[in-house]
Amino acid sequence: MPDLTGHVALITGAARGQGRSHALALAEAGADIIAVDLCRDVATAPYPLATRAELDAVVKEVESLGRRVIAAECDVRDSAGLAEVVSRGVAEFGHIDILVANAGIWALGRLWEITEEQWQEMLDINLTGVWRTVKAVVPTMIEQKRGSIVLTSSVNGFEAGAGMTHYVAAKHGVLGLMRNAAIELGPYNIRCNAVCPGIVDTKMNDWQGAYDMMAGGPGGTPQDRRDNAYGWSALAGRGLLDPATVSRSVVFLASDDARDITGVALPVDGGHAVLPGSNPNPIREL
Ligand SMILES: NC(=O)c1ccc[n+]([C@@H]2O[C@H](COP(=O)([O-])OP(=O)(O)OC[C@H]3O[C@@H](n4cnc5c(N)ncnc54)[C@H](O)[C@@H]3O)[C@@H](O)[C@H]2O)c1
Repeated sequence: MPDLTGHVALITGAARGQGRSHALALAEAGADIIAVDLCRDVATAPYPLATRAELDAVVKEVESLGRRVIAAECDVRDSAGLAEVVSRGVAEFGHIDILVANAGIWALGRLWEITEEQWQEMLDINLTGVWRTVKAVVPTMIEQKRGSIVLTSSVNGFEAGAGMTHYVAAKHGVLGLMRNAAIELGPYNIRCNAVCPGIVDTKMNDWQGAYDMMAGGPGGTPQDRRDNAYGWSALAGRGLLDPATVSRSVVFLASDDARDITGVALPVDGGHAVLPGSNPNPIREL
């Protein structure tokens, strides 16, 4: 494992799921942690988001690894709030070396049926929220002439996903943002890369609408979700991915082991990206 002793990492969406896993993996590698999460629900996400109690539990877990940690309840839609979190982090730790912009929501809806509010909230959190987070952290990294940024996109950052146009558009956008950040921040010795997870075992896809989608119709079950996930991977025995597998790539990209890597979109997907595609809805006659 890379050695991140003396580094400070800010992670959004850190209260649970992949963000929690990234915070713990970065702490295990030696980094102090700034853990950011909204800790309340949003109107258009059809499942509950993380709670304050979950964020507090992550604080305890990081501390038990012997690392220092700041927890902040903050919405990635709130630029002023993000700037405050960054100021607090720099005041406490002196610097921020790593940013993992991971916070996000998922929702379903056909493109001609989703509302303005559903479209806007998705883009506001999953794309503009990532830009706002990068914007808040970059000035301190520019001052330091050092930094590593990892953005969370998805396999939906480079492929379609039926019935989730707003999510797909946002995740494609994250890759554009990552590539431009890589060229604009390179002159300041700041790297920017993205991870593109396949289907990961988190609460984001553990609710009735997700079961139905995986079952191909109403009445889906948690077992349908688990079974369907095997079809997402080219590798034997890989269904729902463990968040820790994404964290290992995040730690690598964040560390000096990846010192010459920037502008890369790294799939962590069990080979999903190379599976042959097929039309999920073939119609023989109009
Ligand atoms: N689970 C998957 O299959 C999968 C696959 C590919 C990509 N992703 C992406 O991975 C990232 C992490 O998702 P996860 O799977 O851990 O799901 P999750 O729902 O468990 O975690 C998302 C976290 O983001 C937080 N969050 C949501 N909106 C926020 C906001 N406005 N401000 C601050 N925090 C906010 C939530 O409270 C939650 O803690 C997301 O960007 C997601 O789109 C997930």
